[in-house]
Amino acid sequence: MKFIVDQQVEDIEMPENLKLNTFLKEFHSNCSHPECSFGLYGFAFGQSPFPVPKLIQEALIKNVDKGTYADVPGIPELRNAISKYNNHYFGMDVDPKRIYVGPGTKELIFNLLEILHGTVILPTPAWLGYLPQIRFLKKNYHMLPARVNGKISPIDLRKLALRLQDRQKIMILNNPHNPTGLLYDKLELEEIADVCREQNITVIADEIYAQTTYKFENFVSMGKIYPEGTFVTNGLSKSHAAGGYRLGYVIFPQHAIDLKRQFKKILATEFTAVSTPIQHAAIAGFEISKEMNEYFDVTRSIHHIMGEYTFHALSAIEGIKTTKPDATFYLLADFNAFATELQKAKINTSQKLSESLIAHPYHTAIIGGDSLVLERTDFSARIAYVDYDGAKVYQNYLDNKPKSSTERVEFVKNNAPKIVAGIEMICTFFKNLKNGSLIDLQTQKKSLMIIQR
Ligand SMILES: Cc1ncc(COP(=O)(O)O)c(C=O)c1O
Repeated sequence: MKFIVDQQVEDIEMPENLKLNTFLKEFHSNCSHPECSFGLYGFAFGQSPFPVPKLIQEALIKNVDKGTYADVPGIPELRNAISKYNNHYFGMDVDPKRIYVGPGTKELIFNLLEILHGTVILPTPAWLGYLPQIRFLKKNYHMLPARVNGKISPIDLRKLALRLQDRQKIMILNNPHNPTGLLYDKLELEEIADVCREQNITVIADEIYAQTTYKFENFVSMGKIYPEGTFVTNGLSKSHAAGGYRLGYVIFPQHAIDLKRQFKKILATEFTAVSTPIQHAAIAGFEISKEMNEYFDVTRSIHHIMGEYTFHALSAIEGIKTTKPDATFYLLADFNAFATELQKAKINTSQKLSESLIAHPYHTAIIGGDSLVLERTDFSARIAYVDYDGAKVYQNYLDNKPKSSTERVEFVKNNAPKIVAGIEMICTFFKNLKNGSLIDLQTQKKSLMIIQR
């Protein structure tokens, strides 16, 4: 039987994360060199390496018997806990009725894009999840490229908004930011909010990395700065290392009563409600407790230590510039200084650069610029510094907290040797590129043939 797929689906591209998974799996399982059985230097996956907090695991086990459907917006106990969590950590006063729970923030952002009329403004570089959704919904969109400091400028935002005809515009503001790891401070957010008010721009503030902010007191939610026009999304995936639980939430702007009714309709149509046991487990993750507080402190400190090391080690390689992360577990590395040599080696797109780095003998996985909504020829890449055993490193940190910068470097060397070796491999790659001995091209071509099969 031949099935006919709807044209709307045919027209969208495979989301980059799925492409990447297939690419890495297919490629790596085909490397014929036995010495490469160590695996990959994994700088590609955006996943927290830590175990799901014990409190959440226990609450899930305790609630396996909850088999009834939950209320569409989420169970009241969870919405209350999320409200208190936002008050405690982010200083936000949120009525639980403004909170909707969904199966991950990705789904909720999609649902928001479904109900909100208007052109989408997408700051770039960007997380690879937004664009396929915008395209699938056939929404008009415009990119808003960051300035050299890695952030968008309110002046550029105003100029772009003035060009757009829509009565309402929607901007997706991801802060802290994937892929740069940068954080917009209070003043920067206020300047952006001023333009949003003036130009009628609704903000979807994707704050999934808020809790990872290294100097936590520096994080300010856009929901506080622009409460009348911001939808804040957050969830369990990054701060609680539970992406697989699929639980996120959105806080609606104040006074959006009719919109909430429309939103509920969409959620009820598309997924009814999040799994009830998962919602009960999530309560333990959002309730204020000593255990969760320690978990956030320890995990953000480890991300900070790994980030600091990765930033210094990569920036020390001549020709590489990187953002200096304030949060998350990513930074953006800029390899454009090697453009001439890369083109000479027939590596003329960021996709080709990712393929060459994954090829033997480098086996280093990165996310190339084209997956970050940058130009195909922009040799920038996202580097995720999470390739270590999270459970072990968590315990080692508790046992012996590194204090000085020397101790922090030692901590990385002892606990994350693949990060250290992977950065050395990136260094070797560019050294070889410079001196013309990159890789034997035959080997590379052979691997590429395998990838394309
Ligand atoms: C910026 C950003 N937003 C949203 C998500 C998805 O979050 P969730 O697991 O809640 O759907 C991710 C995951 O990588 C992300 O990096």
